[in-house]
Amino acid sequence: MSQLFTLRSLQEEDEDAFYAADQEFKASGDFDFVSHYSEGMEFTKLIQLLEDQEHGRNLPEGHVPSTFLFGFVGAKMVGRIMIRHQLNDFLRRIGGHVGYGVVPSERRKGFATRMLLESLPICKSLGLDTVLVTCDEDNVPSKKIIENAGGIFEGFSDQGGGLPRKRLYWISTT
Ligand SMILES: CC(C)(COP(=O)(O)OP(=O)(O)OC[C@H]1O[C@@H](n2cnc3c(N)ncnc32)[C@H](O)[C@@H]1OP(=O)(O)O)[C@@H](O)C(=O)NCCC(=O)NCCS
Repeated sequence: MSQLFTLRSLQEEDEDAFYAADQEFKASGDFDFVSHYSEGMEFTKLIQLLEDQEHGRNLPEGHVPSTFLFGFVGAKMVGRIMIRHQLNDFLRRIGGHVGYGVVPSERRKGFATRMLLESLPICKSLGLDTVLVTCDEDNVPSKKIIENAGGIFEGFSDQGGGLPRKRLYWISTT
C-alpha cells in the first residue's frame, strides 16, 4: 500500500472510479457494492441519495440512517464501508453496524482492515461506543479482519434459508 489511502464520502469527480468499482464488484457475484445504486441512475442522484441516507431523509421502510464511505488509492476506488447509525431487529441479528467490501483486484492488500479501523472514530463521533460487526461463519477473511480490529465474539445468529450462520462481534470505539 505505497500510494496514499484515503477514506471519504463520494464526490462528483468520483463518477468513473465508482462505475469501475461497481462493475468489478458486480462481476465477483458478491452483494451489491452500493445497494442504493441501480444501473443507469444519474451519479448526482446517487450522491444525493447517500447524503439523504446519512441525514435520515426519505429513508425506505425499515432502514436506519447510514454513512457510506469509499476507500481510494489515488483516484482508484478500492472499496467501501457503510456505517449504520443504529440497529434495528434485522441489523442486531444479521447486518450489524458496519459492512464493508473491497473490489476483487484490490483484495488481500489490507484495505478492508484499514477501512474498518478508520471507521471506528467515525462510529464514535456518531455516538457509538461499541459497534456490532458480523460475518458469515465461513467468511475467513472477514473473521480475521474483525478479530484483528479487536472484535469480541458474542455468538452465532441463524440467518435461516440454508444460509450460513452469522458470527456476531462487538468492537469498542473508545
Ligand atoms: C472480505 C473482504 C472484505 C476482505 O477484504 P481484503 O481487503 O482482502 O481484506 P484484508 O486484505 O484486510 O485481509 C484481512 C485478513 O484476511 C486475510 N485474507 C484476505 N483474503 C483472504 C482469503 N481469500 N483467504 C484467506 N485469508 C484471507 C488476509 O491475509 C488478512 O489476514 P491477516 O491480517 O492475518 O494477514 C473482501 O474479500 C470482500 O470484499 N469480499 C466480498 C464481500 C464481503 O465478504 N464482505 C464482508 C462481509 S462481512
